[in-house]
Amino acid sequence: MKAIKLPKSLLMGSATAATQIEGGDTKSNWYHWSLQGKIADGESSIVAADHYNRYKEDIELMQNMNHEIYRMSIEWSRIEPEEGVWSKEGIQHYRDEIRRLIDAGIKPLVTLHHFSHPQWFEDMGQWTNKASVKLFTRFVQKVIRALGDDVSDYCTINEPNVFVNDSFIDGKYPPGHRDDLKSYFAASRNMILAHLRCYKKIHQLRRNRGHEDTKVGIALHIAHMEADKDSIRAKVSTKMMDYVFHTLFLNGMVDGHLTMPLGTGYPNGKGVFCDFIGINYYSRHVIKPDNNPATLFGKIRFEEGLPEEKLNDLGWEIYPEGLYAVIKKTYDKYKLPIFVTENGIPDARDKKRSRFIYDHLMQISELIKEGVDVQRYYYWSLLDNLEWNDGYSPRFGLIHVDYDTLERTVRESGRFYSEICKEKGITEEMLQRYFPEECHETMDVL
Ligand code: GAL
Repeated sequence: MKAIKLPKSLLMGSATAATQIEGGDTKSNWYHWSLQGKIADGESSIVAADHYNRYKEDIELMQNMNHEIYRMSIEWSRIEPEEGVWSKEGIQHYRDEIRRLIDAGIKPLVTLHHFSHPQWFEDMGQWTNKASVKLFTRFVQKVIRALGDDVSDYCTINEPNVFVNDSFIDGKYPPGHRDDLKSYFAASRNMILAHLRCYKKIHQLRRNRGHEDTKVGIALHIAHMEADKDSIRAKVSTKMMDYVFHTLFLNGMVDGHLTMPLGTGYPNGKGVFCDFIGINYYSRHVIKPDNNPATLFGKIRFEEGLPEEKLNDLGWEIYPEGLYAVIKKTYDKYKLPIFVTENGIPDARDKKRSRFIYDHLMQISELIKEGVDVQRYYYWSLLDNLEWNDGYSPRFGLIHVDYDTLERTVRESGRFYSEICKEKGITEEMLQRYFPEECHETMDVL
């Protein structure tokens, strides 16, 4: 292992999402989903990590962990619990939380849709309904009017590709449809249209208030995809999967270009609709061709037969080289600043997390040396949290949460990461302390 020196300009922190940590909200579709017993072990989002009540303590922890940036989401159902009814309390809560972050010297990046929305929106067909575009934009305007003077950076929609896949193909997220391609494409189209509108709206609203530093982007799950075997069918399937899972969304949300089967042309005009591209990266996907006509595009599989040390607690392959590959490919094509908006590992015993962070930051350091404009790194996640339908057993946090007492304890990997944020790198001395068994090579200076 070699020391790593990162540039001071690379901002570092962590990411969370409201439903996964806040607790207390009964108006979101995920609370309703949990009432239907759809979360592992019959769990619910009702308490989660109780961040809604403990945000001050959590911000203090972030500050002690040398965070410069923090990615969080706003729970739409707290702001608009019923259609057209706006909650003053919900808005005030996020104002207070954001003020607190800024006072702690931590710059927020606010996600406006992170998998969850109000149950009333779910009941009307959520993103498959054309009205979703207008309704989401109205909510976003409300948020910008309330928070826009304090927050300059926004992700409109988190992982629309995973969202439509898990909601309409795999049935893991509400409404739990399986192999419903019609809804998959309708929702994809509306999410893209909503992003395009909101991109312009957020810029316009902030400009009207005298702010010129607005940054609006997306956070897209970009997996490193490889064909399962060297067969033409597997290769074709991988290309199709890459197209429906990545390209459709990048074409739409970055270039404003709807491509088939979502539509054609430039509904909001030609232009660039992202000031940065947020990449959420976790693993390598090996694509197998599939005979099911509803899943025309193959099925995502993780490589089989890998040794235990190559797997995280959810059985996903740990594959740092994939982070290099997906960033390089995306940057070469779009030449836009890259934020790593999520990268992390479920690792309850905290045996692999430090090495995971080291290996992924090594890839980032290589990219930066090669001139790729990687500007931010957000580790997923600050705290242990509700991993959607998988419940509370996957432990992604730099901070351990005891779900009985809600007590927080910074893990060893959390301490390691705090030092990296402060040092902007990993020194020989840190390697000796955190990886005493590994052999150390010479300094690798930028
Ligand atoms: C992403 C998602 C996060 C988190 C993470 C870990 O797909 O945006 O909310 O769950 O995966 O699996």
